[in-house]
Parts: sequence; C-alpha cells; structure tokens
Amino acid sequence: MKITIVGTGRVGAAIAFAATINPMASELLLLNRTRDTAEGEAIDLSHATATQNSSMRIRAGDITDSAGSDVIIFTASVPYGDPHRKRSELAGDNLAILKHWIPLLAEVSPDAIIIMVSNPVDAMTYAALKLSGFPPHRVLGTGTLLDSVRYRAMLSTELEIHADDIRAYILGEHGDTQFAAHSLSMTGGERFYPSDMSRRLFEKTVKIGYEVSQLKGHTSYGIALGTMMILDSIVYDLRHTMPVSVLIEDTFGVNDVCLSLPAVIGRQGVTRVLRPPLSEDEQAAFQRSGEAVGNCIRGMGA
Ligand code: 2OP
Repeated sequence: MKITIVGTGRVGAAIAFAATINPMASELLLLNRTRDTAEGEAIDLSHATATQNSSMRIRAGDITDSAGSDVIIFTASVPYGDPHRKRSELAGDNLAILKHWIPLLAEVSPDAIIIMVSNPVDAMTYAALKLSGFPPHRVLGTGTLLDSVRYRAMLSTELEIHADDIRAYILGEHGDTQFAAHSLSMTGGERFYPSDMSRRLFEKTVKIGYEVSQLKGHTSYGIALGTMMILDSIVYDLRHTMPVSVLIEDTFGVNDVCLSLPAVIGRQGVTRVLRPPLSEDEQAAFQRSGEAVGNCIRGMGA
C-alpha cells in the first residue's frame, strides 16, 4: 500500500502524523509546492516512526515518485487568510492548484483512489473527478464527515452517550447549506427526535469551523482523523458507511454535483452511495446544497 499526501500545510501534516501513528502503508510520500517543507515533515515523521511498531517508509518527493500510489490524499490549498473567509471563496485559486497537480498525479497512478480534502471540498471533488478522468467511485471528498463528527461529539457530551453510538448525519454541502438529517438520527436503537438542544448544536456545528479558525488560525485535527476514518475503511476494505462527498446523479432532484450522502467505503473506493429516506424538508435542503455547489462549480469555470 502506497499513500501520497499532496500538500504539507497544517492539514496535510496532521494527516501525515496520524498516518504515522496508525501506519497502514508500506510507503507514505509527501508532496508539496515547496519541497523543503515536505522534506522537513518527512524527516521529522520518519524519526517518529522509529518509536512505532512500523517499518513504513516516509519520504518527500515529486510527482514521478508518487507513481503507483493506491491512495492520494489531496490537501493543497491557498491559505485562508481571514478565518471568516467562506470556503467557496477559495474555489478559483484552489481550482488552479488542482489543474496543476491532478492530471499529472492521475497519469502516474491511474488506479489510485483520490480523497479530496481541499476546500470548497464538494466543488474540488467534482473538479478532481473531471481532471483525473477517474470513475466516480474512485474520487471522493471528506465532505460532511467532519461536520457529522463535530455534531456527534457535541451530542455525545450533551447526551452522555459515546459518539460512536450516535447515528446523526450532517449531509449536503460542507458549507453553509449543510443540514442535519434528523429523520435518520438514532442513539443505540432509539430514535432521536429533533429538539431545541439538537437544533442549537446543529447551528453550532455549521459555525464551529470558523470559530476554531478564529481561535487557533486553522482547523486540523478533526479533519485529519476524519480522513483517517476514510483511509482505514479503504485500506482494510471495512465497508464502513460515512457521509462523504460523492458524485450525485439523479438523487432527490440533484444531478451532476458532488455532495455528501452516506456511502459505503472499501478497497475499491465508494462501493455504494446510500439513498436514505430523507423527509421532504431534508430533500429540499439537499437541493439547496446542490444549487450552492452547482453555482460554485459554474462560478469557478470547471
Ligand atoms: C473545517 O470545517 C476549514 O473546512 C474546514 O474545519
């Protein structure tokens, strides 16, 4: 198993660190626009490997070194600058970054699965799909997995039930139009109905990325371990279901954009996109997400 991480900023480095602690590959390759940063991270992480029960080789490289990658995790992005900057405002600049990397990466690793992390993640997942020419099941984005994990974490504290046992999904856009699919929520076997508390926590979920960025300048650990959940399910063919950004075709009135729905993830990538029984309100919210991401895709000229 060979994993390539593109972009060794805060998020790429946090994912690389998580992958060092939980080594699933024989090789971890780090690519970055400025090679020195990737070199520094690779050397530092290879020292960390010596403390682990692992023989994973970690090194920096260029696109040709990434040949034969099984998984490509794409995190390269322009900096946010302002913590309140909307994810969609990065679209044009990040599309230019994808246009540089994705066709070349796809050429040397034609069988890879691409996990898109860069924002706006839904539009970038769509762009990666088009630029790579890969089939849709091999291009997915972290999407609302991060928002779902945040929402579950807050519900867990409030309900005093472990987050793993809370089936609560944030779906749609990883952005301002995301929505809580309350009609699917369960704790253990019990239905979990919307309440003032759940609505309050959902509103907090939508804003929390901005709040963390305002406090520490960026977000990194939640997205890093969320990405590891996806990687784990791919590498060990676990077939976990999680909300990730995938190509949506004729679903709930939405077509030809990437948005999050629960999907089954295994060694081949997305083995199935599920079609949960969303309420009418939730379907309307999903359509609003589809319009927002569609506008973003058209606006950046992908
Ligand atoms: C987050 O929500 C910035 O999309 C990133 O943390």
